[in-house]
Order: sequence, then structure tokens, then C-alpha cells
Amino acid sequence: MSDASRTPLATHARIPKAELHLHIEGTLEPELAFELAARNGITLPYADTEELRTAYLFADLQSFLDLYYALMAVLITEDDFEALADAYLALAAEQGVRHAEIFFDPQAHTARGVEIGTVVAGLHRALARSEERHGISTKLIMCFLRDQSAESAMETLESAKPYLDKIVGVGLDSAEVGNPASKFRDVYAAAGELGLRKVAHAGEEGDPSYVWEALDVLGVERVDHGLRSMEDPELVARLVRDRIPLTLCPMSNVRLRTIDVLEDHPLVAMMDAGLLCTVNSDDPAYFGGYAGDNFHAVGEALALDHERLRELARNSFVASFLDGNEDDERRRARYIAEVEAYEFED
Ligand code: ADE
Ligand code: ZN
Repeated sequence: MSDASRTPLATHARIPKAELHLHIEGTLEPELAFELAARNGITLPYADTEELRTAYLFADLQSFLDLYYALMAVLITEDDFEALADAYLALAAEQGVRHAEIFFDPQAHTARGVEIGTVVAGLHRALARSEERHGISTKLIMCFLRDQSAESAMETLESAKPYLDKIVGVGLDSAEVGNPASKFRDVYAAAGELGLRKVAHAGEEGDPSYVWEALDVLGVERVDHGLRSMEDPELVARLVRDRIPLTLCPMSNVRLRTIDVLEDHPLVAMMDAGLLCTVNSDDPAYFGGYAGDNFHAVGEALALDHERLRELARNSFVASFLDGNEDDERRRARYIAEVEAYEFED
């Protein structure tokens, strides 16, 4: 469990919210990593959880990704993926998360000989009982690794076809700079034809051209991060005009050194510019905090008042994919009503 999540969260951070930018593999806490390693007869190159945590000092996105992919070696069976998702959902519930749209990286597992069917089945077991057990509705989004080939992405989409009843959309993640979205034009077109929703990481480390390509070439409905959009006023105007939500991840930005300190985060300027901003955790086991911790951290650093926090919480449901059928529409209306009625005690 992260340090931040051990201390009880203030009520303002526990406001009901949707988590829209969450890599399930990035919720692998050191304790669970060692437990799964022991279960699967794997020796990790760290003496214990404390030594592993000392590796969590990242210089940039790539230095994080190196550790993130290496630690996935402990995830092998359906039970492992189920345990991973269940542990995340239990923690997220304590943080006020009521709905989670969860990313997974199929290629990071198939490259190690773990079949996509194993990953989806394990995750789905935890997700299927999440509403009953944790009070969190869920959706699953499969991401293509942008530092792999377009052919590999297309093969991954093909291999996911038997499981599309459990997958709501596609995303694009991993090393951004040098891997523009246009490489994935065809696979996104094919995903669209299959009825999948489309999101992509863009503007995390990459400049605004990466966000333009995600919009114009891939046709994404939501941009993951989009932090650097503020460097291009025309891009901001486009995102505002089309009401394209951004899934910001403030603690991640600091840990990956996209910004120096949270006080420098452009969240308020982005909201004031009319952008539909949401606050999310990205890879909470690695970046020191879950969704509520991120609300708390930006709340403190940027002196957000209760109405700003309420706006962020409302935005998270507005930006969600809870719009595909009547049950989801009802969920969304219920969650937004919870946000409007939420009473802050601090
Ligand atoms: N995969 C997991 N976390 C990521 C991030 N923050 N950016 C790109 N790819 C990722
Ligand atoms: Zn991410």
C-alpha cells in the first residue's frame, strides 16, 4: 500500500469520482509483487519491498516504464490478474471512486507468453463483482504499446476479438516521443469499425503535435494527459470546441518530472480556459497516490475550493463512457447526483 493511502483521506478527497486514467499494471504494490513472485517461483532482483521502493525515483517516463514492464513478470495466471484488480478496487473504494475505466497492456503480457485470454479472464473476474463488492462500476480499455509496431497492434486487436464483450475501447500508451499516433491510423480505424471507443495518451512528454494527431488521425474521444496542449492556443480552442475531455494525472507528472512541483501544475489555467479536465492516478503504486490522493494533492497545492473539487468530480462522470445504454445512463445520473449532494466536512 502506498504511503499516502495509509493515512485516512480528508473528506474533500473522498468526493465520489470516476477514475478514467488508470493502468491496472501500475497498481501493483510491492507487497503484492513479492507475494505473486513467491507464488509463481520468481526471484525479483530486490531483497524486499523496501529495497524495491527505493527504485521508484524516476528521471522520466522511460525510466519508469523500464521498471513497470520488468515487474509485470510476476503476473502469470488468471488468479494473479484477479488479485491485482481486486486489490486496486478495494483501495479505490476507500478513495471515493464510484466508477473506473481501467487500462491494460495486452502486448506486455503476450510478449512474456501470457495469453490475452488469461489477462482478460482474470481481470474480468474481479471487475464482474466489483459493483457488488466495492460499489464501483467498471469498464476495461485495452492499450496498444506505441513503441511496438503497427502490425503488432493490429495482431493484438485481432487476438482480442473473442473478448470484445468485456472491452469497451482502445488506448495508446508507453514511450510517446518518437512514436506519433499516426503510426496507428489503421488499427484505430479497425477498432472503430468494431464499435470500440477510442482514447490515446498524448501530450504527456510529447509536444502539441502528438495531441493533434490523436484527434485528427485516430479520432479519439478523450485525450489521456494532454498536459502540453496549453502550449498551443489553437489546440486548446479545438479541445474546448469539441468538448474533448483530458485525463490529467498530477502526481504522475511530478514523479515523471514533466513538471517540477505540483504548485506549477496548469490544472487551474486549463479549467479556466474551458477545458474539460479530470484528475486521475495513472500508476498509483509507483507515483505515491490513488485517485483521492491526487484530488487531495492538487487541492492543497493549488488551493482548490470545494466547488472546484466538485467540478472535477462532476467532470469525471461527464467524461466517462457511461453513455452506451440505459443502465449506464442511470448510473451516471446517480453518481452526478451524489457529487452535487456531497457535503464537505473539511
Ligand atoms: N504506461 C503506464 N503508464 C504510462 C504513462 N504514464 N505514460 C505512458 N504509458 C504508460
Ligand atoms: Zn497513463
